[in-house]
Amino acid sequence: MPVEDVHTQEGWLDLLGERDPTGVHPGQRLMLSATLARIYERLWRPLGARMLMGLTGPSTSEEHRIALRMLELGGGENVLDIACGPGNFTRSFARAAPAGLVVGLDASKTMLTRAVSDTDSPNVAYVLGDAHALPFRDGTFDAVCCFAALYLIDEPARAIDETVRVLARDGRLALLASCNRGPLPAAASNTLVRRLTGVRVFDRGELTGALRAHGLTDIRQRVVGLAQFISARKP
Ligand SMILES: C[S@@+](CC[C@H](N)C(=O)[O-])C[C@H]1O[C@@H](n2cnc3c(N)ncnc32)[C@H](O)[C@@H]1O
Repeated sequence: MPVEDVHTQEGWLDLLGERDPTGVHPGQRLMLSATLARIYERLWRPLGARMLMGLTGPSTSEEHRIALRMLELGGGENVLDIACGPGNFTRSFARAAPAGLVVGLDASKTMLTRAVSDTDSPNVAYVLGDAHALPFRDGTFDAVCCFAALYLIDEPARAIDETVRVLARDGRLALLASCNRGPLPAAASNTLVRRLTGVRVFDRGELTGALRAHGLTDIRQRVVGLAQFISARKP
């Protein structure tokens, strides 16, 4: 993209322009709504987590602790939060890596507007960009997180390719995604759920298998209700 086309006046770096990679399904379109961005962090996200993980699943603050543990942030890392929404996790990473740079990337302008207005950490930068084609060099980040988004991203396999590409050696990855628990196989659940909502249901071994195929190690999976947390490391 020519430099004169890159806009920053809203508080984020616009590397998308007029492109909209979010997909056509209702659940995907919803992420562009200003109303959702307003209620997302306090209402939508906690409710969604309860629906996905059940009443005994981790609370919001526990989810933050899980993410920080999986990413092993010690203070000076460069961190990428893919599909960061209103920056709800990005800000935690910024506090945990005060001497590093934390980049929150999302394709929704309304979400990033909220993220910018709610963030005052000097070590955070927001980018309007596409998870299918991350605008970063190979091996840029010590830690990459993608929570509650792979199931909305139109082509998750491409997003995983990109995630692994931008991860540095010894870099840590943290994912939170959907997980099929039956009785139908994931392919059958997807025929209905994805067509109606845009939300994809991943088979239990699908994402761990993809990470293994990319050569990642220390792959750990924790299934909670209809969700899965996955951590991994790039050797
Ligand atoms: C449910 S929110 C997740 C926000 C946050 N990570 C969390 O855990 O609460 C999903 C986000 O994925 C973003 N998204 C969907 N497709 C994307 C794409 N191709 N590139 C970047 N972001 C995308 C949406 O705009 C939305 O903000």
